[in-house]
Amino acid sequence: ADADPGSLRTPIVAVLGHVDHGKTSLLDKIRGSAVSEGEAGAITQHIGATAVPLDTVSSMAGDLVMADDFDLPGLLFIDTPGHHSFSTLRARGGALADIAVLVVDVNDGFQPQTEEALDILQRTGTPFVVAANKIDTTPGWNPQPDAPVQETYDSQSDRARQMLDENLYEIIGQLSDAGFSADLYWRVQNFQGNIGVVPVSAMTGEGIPDLLAVLMGLSQRYMKTEMEIDLGGPGKGTVLEVKDEKGFGATLDVVLYDGTVTEGDRIVVGGVEGPIVTEVRALLRPRALSEIRTEAEFERLDSVQAASGVKLAAPDLDDAMAGAPVRVVRGRHLEDVIGEVEAEL
Ligand code: GTP
Ligand code: MG
Repeated sequence: ADADPGSLRTPIVAVLGHVDHGKTSLLDKIRGSAVSEGEAGAITQHIGATAVPLDTVSSMAGDLVMADDFDLPGLLFIDTPGHHSFSTLRARGGALADIAVLVVDVNDGFQPQTEEALDILQRTGTPFVVAANKIDTTPGWNPQPDAPVQETYDSQSDRARQMLDENLYEIIGQLSDAGFSADLYWRVQNFQGNIGVVPVSAMTGEGIPDLLAVLMGLSQRYMKTEMEIDLGGPGKGTVLEVKDEKGFGATLDVVLYDGTVTEGDRIVVGGVEGPIVTEVRALLRPRALSEIRTEAEFERLDSVQAASGVKLAAPDLDDAMAGAPVRVVRGRHLEDVIGEVEAEL
């Protein structure tokens, strides 16, 4: 970790998959909170962002992630809903992401939104890993809380291991049918051409060290040049949601993927009637390791650097659109920035 921490941005990791396959539970386990318990029904109706700093990734992954081996500041996870009616939210999350986790219930295998997520990842050329979740439901499973895959495998009966392997090879076969060369992650030499499958349990935490290690490895190995961006430059982001907040009126939940946004910055946002030009009144952010969509108390910041999830308060945001671009004007011609935003609408 010799590099200037300001020169590399946090990779954005989208979590995609079929409804109920365990996306939110996996993130809950990772951030050690229980957001899914507060959700209405079982359906996630919004997307949020969760920042996990490198130190936390490293302490969860144990020997598999040594913080000193990495220059990246951590991982920024974006949860997406699996219910079939939320395809725009999934596409938005997928398009934003540097890398992705495709969550597949190890018993259910491929389902319609698994296929849809694969299409999004293929279309956007996003590198991804498959988390084969719910391994703890394998009959006769002997859970090893928070253990790496190898350790938990060694603790299972031959029968349990065999049943899990059958399910895992089923998923590998389905990936192959969809045109992806895949294997269990420890057999994958080149993660660029091959998809690694990581057996995990969001319930027991088994395999999560391995999942984090693969995500860090993928980011460091294949994303590094893209991470070396001008973090001091004018901010660029995507609107996830437009929400009314008491005392602020209409606000934007934004994932910032490039540059910096500062209080008082002039910004251009995509709106229903075309680009909106306004000025940032407040930058609000939940604490690290908490979830943007359930955090009631926000921290007020002077300035925010990519990659982050941030709530942005400004006048005239009522017509702003979810999915639209946000651009900071700073040091550039307003007309050029308006043109950029128009081109993306
Ligand atoms: P949507 O947001 O609706 O698409 O679902 P999701 O993919 O976020 O699934 P969620 O995390 O809400 O989990 C769905 C159900 O599966 C919940 O009842 C979880 O408790 C359960 N579940 C998730 N992961 C595991 C796991 O690893 N093991 C077991 N046994 N149950 C799990
Ligand atoms: Mg969910």
